[in-house]
Amino acid sequence: MFWSRKKKTKKANAADIGVLPRHLAIIMDGNGRWATRRGMPRTAGHKAGSENFVRTVDACDRLGIQCLTVYAFSTENWQRSDDEVQGILKIMHAYIIKYVPELMKKNIRLRILGDLSYFDEESRRALGDSEKKLENNTGLTLCIALSYGGRNEIKQALESLIREGRTEVTEEDISNRLYTAGLPDPDLVIRTGGEKRISNFLLWQSAYAEYYFSDVLWPDFDEDCLLEAASEFGRRKRRFGK
Ligand code: IPE
Ligand code: IPE
Ligand code: MG
Repeated sequence: MFWSRKKKTKKANAADIGVLPRHLAIIMDGNGRWATRRGMPRTAGHKAGSENFVRTVDACDRLGIQCLTVYAFSTENWQRSDDEVQGILKIMHAYIIKYVPELMKKNIRLRILGDLSYFDEESRRALGDSEKKLENNTGLTLCIALSYGGRNEIKQALESLIREGRTEVTEEDISNRLYTAGLPDPDLVIRTGGEKRISNFLLWQSAYAEYYFSDVLWPDFDEDCLLEAASEFGRRKRRFGK
């Protein structure tokens, strides 16, 4: 039997990684399984997931990533049980209200990407107020995909072009009508939780994104895991079809 050293935890350091993704997008999957494995209700997994989300925002901010988009709740997730949906929304609501002052201190801009027509007026106003308070910040842009579906987003962009009476459109016209208008396309999309699919996330924007799939469940996807994904991204050769 050997004495083994406690695993060292790294603090994110851009210099160790090389080329950083300008826009990092994360499908934060595996909260439910994380809780079930511990004999806890699924909402406990969402709570643990939201705590990891806070740590991840902090790590991305320190790393100097320009834009972070997290997939928090999909249009399809509305079909889950009322209890689970309410649990997730309550956690997200608490996060957004509680962390606005901290995001302000860190110069972080907030954007909510998604179909907010599912929410009542008061929730929409609260989300809009938080975005507004942070809109002039110039540091990390944090996008939370909430009630988000990629197909629905493209459909809405096309509907807006139709309303404008357009008969011809460019790719740029479509990009400019997506929730992500004005943001760079994601360079790296990470999915945690072991599934290898994109589940309706940033379909248009990820045309040339690099994908990174991890078996680690979201609440356990720590800074070392993030650094590993970022380092692998740095080693990939992107060709964009050329
Ligand atoms: C991801 O975790 C969070 C949301 C979809 C809201 P899940 O809730 O999908 O967790 P698993 O995939 O069932 O473990
Ligand atoms: C994708 O995870 C959505 C979010 C992480 C918010 P899901 O758990 O909903 O995806 P599927 O059902 O496994 O495809
Ligand atoms: Mg899941």
